[in-house]
Amino acid sequence: MSSSPERGLRALRAGLFAGALLGSATLAAAEPAFPGIGRAATPKEVAAWDIDVRPDFKGLPPGSGSVAQGQDVWEAKCASCHGVFGESNSVFSPLVGGTTAEDVKTGRVARLNDPGFPGRTTLMKVSTISTLWDYIHRAMPWNAPKSLSADEVYAVTAFLLNLGGVLPDNFVLSDKTMAEAQARLPNRNGTTTAHALWPGAKAGKPDVQGSACMNQCEAEPHLASILPDHARNAHGNLAEQNRLIGAQHGADTTRPPGAAPAAPAPAAAPAAPSPALALLGKHGCSACHASDSKLVGPALRDIARKHGTRDDAVTYLAGKIRSGGSGVWGEIPMPPQTLPESDARAIAQWLATGAKK
Ligand code: HEC
Ligand code: HEC
Repeated sequence: MSSSPERGLRALRAGLFAGALLGSATLAAAEPAFPGIGRAATPKEVAAWDIDVRPDFKGLPPGSGSVAQGQDVWEAKCASCHGVFGESNSVFSPLVGGTTAEDVKTGRVARLNDPGFPGRTTLMKVSTISTLWDYIHRAMPWNAPKSLSADEVYAVTAFLLNLGGVLPDNFVLSDKTMAEAQARLPNRNGTTTAHALWPGAKAGKPDVQGSACMNQCEAEPHLASILPDHARNAHGNLAEQNRLIGAQHGADTTRPPGAAPAAPAPAAAPAAPSPALALLGKHGCSACHASDSKLVGPALRDIARKHGTRDDAVTYLAGKIRSGGSGVWGEIPMPPQTLPESDARAIAQWLATGAKK
C-alpha cells in the first residue's frame, strides 16, 4: 500500500474538481464524500499503517543492527517461544535449520526436494529477505507486535540469518546491506512466477483443469465422517473423553464401527462402579483425565501406579488434587480444583488403591 497517500490525494483532487463543476468548491472541500460516515485518515495514521517493505526494498526505514546486537534482542524477546537456536517447534515450525553452505551458493535449498527431511523451516522456504524483515517488524514478538525499533528488527534478522549460517558473525544488516544479505539467502532462487497461475504468465494453462466427467461418473459426491481403522483406538476410547457440556457423544473406539457394545459379563456379581468415578465426573476431572490414556493430564491408572506405593499416598494425592501442580508429568500445569476435602480424599483413596473401575 505504498501508494495510498498518492491515491488519497488523487481522490481529494477529484473531489475538488467535482465541487468546482457544481460551482461551490469551498462547500465541497468542507463536506466529506460520505457524510456521517467516518473521517479521513490523518497522514500520521496512514504512515502508521503504511509499513510494508517490498522485495525491491521500497518501504525499508533507515537503520542498522549487528548480529551481536541481534543476539541480545533474540534472547530477551524471541527465544522463549522459538528456542535459543530458533529450533523450537513448540509454538510454530522451527525458524532455523535445514539449510547448507551449498544452498547459500546456489540459492536453492536442496532439502526441499528430500521427502525424508523432517519439516520445513522458515529459512528453508523464504525467498525474499524483505518478507522476513517485514513479518518480524509487523508481527513479532507474538505477544507485543510492532514493539521493536527498526534497528532491533535489522539486528534480530541478522542474528537469525547468522544462526542459519547465511551471514557471518560480524555482519551489520541495514537498509544499505539488505541487498547483500538477499544475495546470500538460501532459497532466493527457489520460487518462480513462470507458471500458469501467475497472472499474465505465458506458461500455458494451469495444471488443474475443471473438465466435466463424461463416463463412469459418481452420481453424487459421497461424504462421510469416519475414523480409519488404524486410528480407531489410537488415543483411547473417545466415548470416555467427551466434554461435559453439550450433546457430544464420542464413538466407542474400543470396538469396530457399528458393533454392539460387548455383552455384559453374565451374572458374575455385577461390580458396582466405584463412587469415585462419579466424583470425577461431578468435579470436572474427566475433562482432563481418563482411566487408561493421557488426555490433558496423565491417565488415572498411571497416577495410581506412580504414587500408590507411597506411605502418604492418600494425603499426598488429596493435597495435589486441591492445590494443582506442575512438573511431575510434564510441562502442562494442573489448575487448583475446588471440591470438598472429603471428596478429594475419596478420590485419593481410590487412586491410592489402584484406580479400579
Ligand atoms: C509468545 C511467543 C512468541 C514470541 C515471544 C515470538 N514469536 Fe515469532 N512466532 C510465534 C508464533 C505463534 C508464530 C506463528 C504465527 C502465525 O503463523 O500466525 C511465530 C512466527 C514467527 C515467524 C514467521 C515464521 C514463518 O515461517 O512464517 C518469524 C520470522 C518469527 N516468529 C520471528 C520472531 C522474532 C524475531 C521474535 C522476537 C523479536 C519472535 N518471533 C518472538 C510466537 C512467538
Ligand atoms: C485442566 C485440566 C485438569 C483438570 C480439570 C484436572 N486435572 Fe489433574 N492433572 C492435570 C495435569 C496437566 C496434571 C499433571 C501435572 C504435573 O505434571 O504435575 C494433573 C495431575 C493430577 C494428579 C497427579 C499429581 C501428581 O503429583 O502426580 C492427580 C492426582 C490429579 N491430577 C487428579 C485430579 C482430580 C481428582 C481432578 C478433579 C477434581 C483433576 N485432577 C482435574 C490436569 C487436570
